[in-house]
Amino acid sequence: MSSVQSNTSSNIPFEVFADAEAASAALARVMCERINANAATGKQTVLGLATGSTPIKLYQNLIRLCKNGAVSFKDVTTFNLDEYLGLAGDHPRSYRRFMDENFFDHIDIDKARTHVPSGLVSKEEAAAQCAEYEEQILRAGGLHMQVLGIGRNGHIGFNEPGSRADSRTRLLELNGITRADAANDFGGLENVPTHAITMGIATILQAKEIFLLAWGKGKSEIIAKALSTAPTSDIPATFLRSHPNVRAYIDEAAASVLQAPVRP
Ligand code: PGA
Repeated sequence: MSSVQSNTSSNIPFEVFADAEAASAALARVMCERINANAATGKQTVLGLATGSTPIKLYQNLIRLCKNGAVSFKDVTTFNLDEYLGLAGDHPRSYRRFMDENFFDHIDIDKARTHVPSGLVSKEEAAAQCAEYEEQILRAGGLHMQVLGIGRNGHIGFNEPGSRADSRTRLLELNGITRADAANDFGGLENVPTHAITMGIATILQAKEIFLLAWGKGKSEIIAKALSTAPTSDIPATFLRSHPNVRAYIDEAAASVLQAPVRP
């Protein structure tokens, strides 16, 4: 059960689901419909993908749909949003490894068509790699669908507060909140990389369709702000508002602030 809402408190249409599983299952079905519609006309699909805890259930649902024959990823190309600087692809905390373990290793995708920025570039080499990543997205025909989580500081990808609407794939310094949120995964704040490569806001906004996902009470404040604040670099997710085809998938816990009754 879900309710679709687009009201005065939000310019981004959002849909509230009982829980993350229900939302993820619904989004997985939508993505499969799009992939199958493209395949039926001989077209490939290009996906922009995210890491973190948020999309895990989405990937589980997509894996299930692939295993039972409802969708194939043979004609799908993917580009991930970001990667930590300094981590090799086989590092346990690298986003390449995350994607392989949580998604790519379980579907019929050609790994050569899966792209994650390399974390093993020097700061000097990063600009060239980032430009090449933008080129690769363009050569693939652009992103059809982009999946996004949201950080507690409003980041999308690693576009931290201060990121500009016209930003492109680049190397940047991670924000304190982002690093603190990753500290457990890395066994302590001191082990969390200080920099990362991320697609830019403008790169993300070039996707034809964008899905913004938020689950749990911990995301309730930021998702309410992201959906109801005028576009500002202070909360990079607010830039999504200028996109013509964006939808937020939210569970009840994350929607609790958004839907709180307005006091007179
Ligand atoms: P999370 O991170 O999915 O682990 O909550 C989301 C993000 O920081 O973009």
